[in-house]
Amino acid sequence: MNDVVFLLKNPPPQPITIVYRTHIGWSARRRAGADCPNSTATRLRPHAHTPVHAMIKMIPAEELKVGMYIHDLNCDWMSHPFARSRFEIDDAEKIARITAAGIREVYIDTDLGIDATHAPTAEEVSAQVHQDMLAIAREPAPYAPTTYEEELERARSARKQAEQFVQRAMQDVRNGKALKIDGVDPIIDSVTSSVMRNAGALLSLVGIKDKDQYTIQHSAAVCALMVAFARHEGMPSDLVHQAGLGGLLHDIGKARVPEPVLNKNGTYTEEEFAIMRRHTEDGYDMLVETGIVEQVPLQMALEHHEREDGTGYPYNLRSAEITKIAQMTAIVDVYDAITAERSYRAAMQPTDGLRKLMEWSKFHLNPYLTHSFIRCVGIYPVGTLVKLESGLLGIVTEHNVQDLLRPKLKIIFDTKRNQYVPPRPLDLARPLGSGGGDAIVSHESPRKWFINMEYFQ
Ligand SMILES: [Fe+2]
Ligand SMILES: [Fe+2]
Repeated sequence: MNDVVFLLKNPPPQPITIVYRTHIGWSARRRAGADCPNSTATRLRPHAHTPVHAMIKMIPAEELKVGMYIHDLNCDWMSHPFARSRFEIDDAEKIARITAAGIREVYIDTDLGIDATHAPTAEEVSAQVHQDMLAIAREPAPYAPTTYEEELERARSARKQAEQFVQRAMQDVRNGKALKIDGVDPIIDSVTSSVMRNAGALLSLVGIKDKDQYTIQHSAAVCALMVAFARHEGMPSDLVHQAGLGGLLHDIGKARVPEPVLNKNGTYTEEEFAIMRRHTEDGYDMLVETGIVEQVPLQMALEHHEREDGTGYPYNLRSAEITKIAQMTAIVDVYDAITAERSYRAAMQPTDGLRKLMEWSKFHLNPYLTHSFIRCVGIYPVGTLVKLESGLLGIVTEHNVQDLLRPKLKIIFDTKRNQYVPPRPLDLARPLGSGGGDAIVSHESPRKWFINMEYFQ
């Protein structure tokens, strides 16, 4: 027998619930206000098939007592060991069987058994669920997707804000001042929202670096890459935010490394290397001193140079001992470092950088997370210059998640004529005749073709 409740749109002064029973010869029953509080519950229309009754209450299974009457075990009918779902609790063994079946909350009928005075009624429970559902439905889509071109300007602004923050923070520490993180949250929000709207725009920018600004630009790059990676790993939004903060500040300990050591072009002496290695613990201490208590940024600063085989620093931790967020940071940190131009070596192309990560994941980096990171940034990361079968050169602007080998491109150069062409978009995933049909044959060094990538981004 199912009860269907029709709730009055404008309830009269005395709250009334009308219950129609759906068997032959329907009857109506009115209950007066004392048993049916005029709560939101009575004004909202609950799910039409929810068993609703003024004297039905929900209680935790562990609060069941002998003498109560089970109205509904509140679980999938396959999941309980009772022949019927409505019965009296006449001995303690029944309570034990209910809890042993994993049932956490049940509905009791207080007309047919003893009451649980403070328990919510079925109407109140139903109304709360309804409110929760409405709240989910009303959640705004916070990040309406944009195209690469639309996002580029905001991505530039987010990158600039992030870099300026790190620059100021490092300068403060070098001048003997305490690290201050006031105002960092809106910057992380700008980075996060840009990545959410169109990750490619900001990620294509972080690949471009000026040799003299390495530590600052690297910090902003790790921030953006960590936001994208954390989101790709399905982390909740507060942890994505913390991952962005940790990315921005993971190398803040380098502010205590003397500049001649930090910017040295040659190989470090044993002593200089020991000074460099201190940046992990110094960074951790600085973040603690500035009041950061969240574990994510602290672990990122402290453990991002630990390696899976125990050869990292500062504690020679092994894979299972390293936190997941630090394992992710290690991957991002290495990727960004090897794809950046340094005064003592040329930048690796993004695709080559990913290949190196694959090789190093045998011993140094977490293989599962390395795989996940490659899925996140693509085989041809956004910003990569690629050559097509037709001889055209294009810059990767967006991924096709169904096929990472067929991204969207901005075509800029014709190698057969050895000349630039007016920039135009090309979607390699589209069929021949619709702008697609071409295919990538290789990724290319911009230097080989004398192309200044910054000009096109
Ligand atoms: Fe570092
Ligand atoms: Fe780093």
